[in-house]
Amino acid sequence: MVEYMKRQSSYYCDVLIIGGGSAGLVAAIEAHDAGTNVLIISKSKKGDPHTTLARGGINAALGTMDPEDNWIIHAADTLREGEFLADYERVEVLCKNAPDAINELVNWGARFHREKDGRLTQRFFGAHTYRRTVFYEDWTGQEIIRVLMDQINQRKIKIIDNVYITKLLLKSQDDDGDINGKARPLSSSGTLTPEEQVAKEQEAVRGAFGIDIEKKEFVAFECKSLILAAGGYTRVYAVSSSRIFENYGEGIALAYEAGVDLVDMEMVQFHPTGMVWPDKAVGTLATEAIRGEGGILLNSKGERFMKNYDPERMELGPRDVVARANYNEIISGRGTEHGGVWLDVTHLRKEVIQERLTTMYEQFQKLDGIDISKEKMEVGPTAHYSMGGVVVDINCRTTVKGLFAVGEVISQIHGANRLGGNSLLDTIVFGKIAGGEAAKFAKQGITENTKKTEAASQLKSNVYNQKKELDDNNDDYYGGIFVVKQPINFRNEIQELMKQNAGIVREQTRLQNGLKRILDMKDEFYSDKDNIKIKEFEIDDYNNCEDLVLSWQVKSSLIACEAIIRSALIRQESRGAHYRSDFPKLDDEKWKINIYCRKVEKGASAAAAKMVLFKDSVKEIKGPLADFLKSHAKAAHHRTFE
Ligand code: FUM
Repeated sequence: MVEYMKRQSSYYCDVLIIGGGSAGLVAAIEAHDAGTNVLIISKSKKGDPHTTLARGGINAALGTMDPEDNWIIHAADTLREGEFLADYERVEVLCKNAPDAINELVNWGARFHREKDGRLTQRFFGAHTYRRTVFYEDWTGQEIIRVLMDQINQRKIKIIDNVYITKLLLKSQDDDGDINGKARPLSSSGTLTPEEQVAKEQEAVRGAFGIDIEKKEFVAFECKSLILAAGGYTRVYAVSSSRIFENYGEGIALAYEAGVDLVDMEMVQFHPTGMVWPDKAVGTLATEAIRGEGGILLNSKGERFMKNYDPERMELGPRDVVARANYNEIISGRGTEHGGVWLDVTHLRKEVIQERLTTMYEQFQKLDGIDISKEKMEVGPTAHYSMGGVVVDINCRTTVKGLFAVGEVISQIHGANRLGGNSLLDTIVFGKIAGGEAAKFAKQGITENTKKTEAASQLKSNVYNQKKELDDNNDDYYGGIFVVKQPINFRNEIQELMKQNAGIVREQTRLQNGLKRILDMKDEFYSDKDNIKIKEFEIDDYNNCEDLVLSWQVKSSLIACEAIIRSALIRQESRGAHYRSDFPKLDDEKWKINIYCRKVEKGASAAAAKMVLFKDSVKEIKGPLADFLKSHAKAAHHRTFE
């Protein structure tokens, strides 16, 4: 059924990084500085990853505005607002390393906002005890990418963009040169037998395979270690703050297919304020910085409704609370004409708006035709961040040797609800760790009897002459590349289904119906019927290339959605971003657990592979953080405006 593309290039490097966002770039810099040869591949254009959309800022307990702040309070806020689902040791690493991360960015030239006396300005973000969000106007992510790209260029680290990876290549450790690797057997219960455990421990990453969209050819990458920094899965929802071409869960799908477990997949963050109008702008972020600078939320009756949901913190409550409050006002008939609520900054001085909310001022003028210093914005919840993702340890290692993951693709740092400003931080802190660890692994792998050592230390591109694999028509090697007819129809249906059946408020029947349809779609997607598969796929036809990428987005989305819904069905409580109207209470007795998803191979085909789920307890918090949380049962809130 599948017509393969005939041309192929290959590349060798020590450390291969999939993803050109802030996590991938920081990892690349670190791995390069540790003495390894690094290659970054990215499906988005060089310098324009999803990170550029991160608006409001990056957190660190610097105490420049509120000297009482420190890393423990930052960590306590992060854990508490994540409803204690995160791994506390990673939260400690995140918050302890935050000041150094900011200082490094400043040393590299980041133009963060400063007070007149030179101190870095820190603004309030939701559910933080103190002001700790450092920012550059309201396009902090873009500024960070600018600075990181500068470092990448100085080091001459190569980035190949427009590459869409369809498969991670594995080998068993004693396997000398079989790029196809071996399928990992798993018992049907999802638990590993002792023999399987040994086999799994012997598995190692060998590289990645995909399509160079611009050159229209297959492309293979061989490496000693690989860092997956390929983003999250919020674009599986119809209303999302991600752009239409990103975050379909491609990263989690690659890892899952390679045998790595996923965890906390039900935890999808809905940002309270995305644009609801006009159609082409739906979901586009209206940054939390608007509320951080003093913006207020009003319903159609002009009531400041947050007083009914979080009277103390009001608009700067946790994201899950504010998002559900907005949703509730809208579905209770107190919404605006276009199905949103009002976000109002007309009481702020125009200079403050223009200086600190620069892109918001332009965005609303350009897209909505309004001057936000004079008129209110219409906003509503938008799928914004994936708290769930690939299982890694504290050093960003997965269970596959040499395979690391970092950024939004991983989990267990933000728990059930991420604090605004913590994701940019997470990419910088853990990006550095992932880069260092991957370099260490790659260096260990460079032994005298490794045949390709020379080639690996000298990145090179040549025409890949492995005709054998091409002629073998080997599905495993290619990741079973195929396109489906009209992939856009699949994509649109999935996005609408997820919004309706697994959105901001969930309930058993809708979740069950959603799962049934996702599984039916999975059957249709993998069916061999002629009306689904395109038989004669030609790489030279650009439209087909687009269809191929769309097909892969669908393939990844189906994995992400199955995992989200299955996990959401299992978790019969409400915690953070996961709200069940049929189980509206948090239940620590039963549900202080993480839910894992594992691929059980039944035969080789992705179509037949079964997803099994299992639970494990959240690690008990120990040490100074535990003491602090005991003595400060509730977060203090010190919102002040100067
Ligand atoms: O609203 C925002 O600017 C988003 C920030 C974040 O998600 O960290």
